[in-house]
Amino acid sequence: MSGGNVVEIQEIKTENLDADVFVQQKTSEIADIVGRGLAINALSGGVDSSVVTMLGHKALGDRLRTCFVDNGIMRQGEPERVVWLFKELGVPVEVVDAKQQFFDALRGLTDPEQKREAITRVFYKEVFGDLVRKSGAKYLLQGTNYTDVEETVAGIKRQHNILEQVGINTQEQYGYTVIEPLVQLRKSGVREVGRVLGLPEEMYNRPPFPGPALAARVIGEVTPEKIEIIRAATRIVEEELSSTGAFQYLAILHQDRVTGIKDGKRDYGLQIEIRCWESKDAKEGSPTRLPYEILEKLAESITKRVPGVVSVTYNITRKPPSTIEAI
Ligand code: XMP
Repeated sequence: MSGGNVVEIQEIKTENLDADVFVQQKTSEIADIVGRGLAINALSGGVDSSVVTMLGHKALGDRLRTCFVDNGIMRQGEPERVVWLFKELGVPVEVVDAKQQFFDALRGLTDPEQKREAITRVFYKEVFGDLVRKSGAKYLLQGTNYTDVEETVAGIKRQHNILEQVGINTQEQYGYTVIEPLVQLRKSGVREVGRVLGLPEEMYNRPPFPGPALAARVIGEVTPEKIEIIRAATRIVEEELSSTGAFQYLAILHQDRVTGIKDGKRDYGLQIEIRCWESKDAKEGSPTRLPYEILEKLAESITKRVPGVVSVTYNITRKPPSTIEAI
């Protein structure tokens, strides 16, 4: 179902996708691979992992154990929201508290690729390695899509969930096999499959969110304090921009400080950068031409409500040469 490198994976273009047929094929493939055994499923609440959860649930029922890893770098209220939404859909979700493990692994790291590698290692080796060993499951189901593989293989960015394509033998290194039923699809195809599987629209049409979560939006070292700041800014950006219908919108916490004024005094404060993207599949993108009033409101809300921030900027660069996330 997956494996090899990107040239061996046959892309299914969204315009050629028959989502009903795809669901039938993938559920029977998953059921065949897992057989009578048990599989574990990594749910993050993003579009891809939510769709995979529904596919896995359809294929395996209660032989699928769905785990939400609370890595401490999620958006506000996310673990509770995801557990509740899936409970409504009849899928029980276990929350695994791994906050400390992730912050320990990220301590002192400033290089983007090292941060990504640390997240991958803790997620797959420590957290899921442990869950798999204890449960006796042999398979991990995850929502890698075609763009993730393509960008990693092209050397643009190491997507956290790309393993085999960068030479990791998951069976040898982690003790389980990874199943990736969505690997032939782009995001728009994944959304179509989610719709057919009966996910609510707020889930299958949710803006993408990166696996390394808010750590992808902190430049430099990731600490619990910086995560608090970017979490608060993210909440404001999502509140203000969700009605724009943009492909993705995000806040980034910069490492450099700038001089500002707080309460009539000099303040050497933090900088937040906002990005808002128009894109079809995240491969290329252009910044949304947001009305100036919205930009001004964002600057005002963020500097008022997020402690320590004295500067807010809006990025007007296209992808490429930019990427969507900052790290
Ligand atoms: P970039 O920043 O590479 O992002 O232009 C392209 C799309 O992928 C998302 N993204 C990720 N998704 N794991 C993921 O599952 C990752 O490590 C990761 N990094 C970026 C990003 O949000 C955008 O939609």
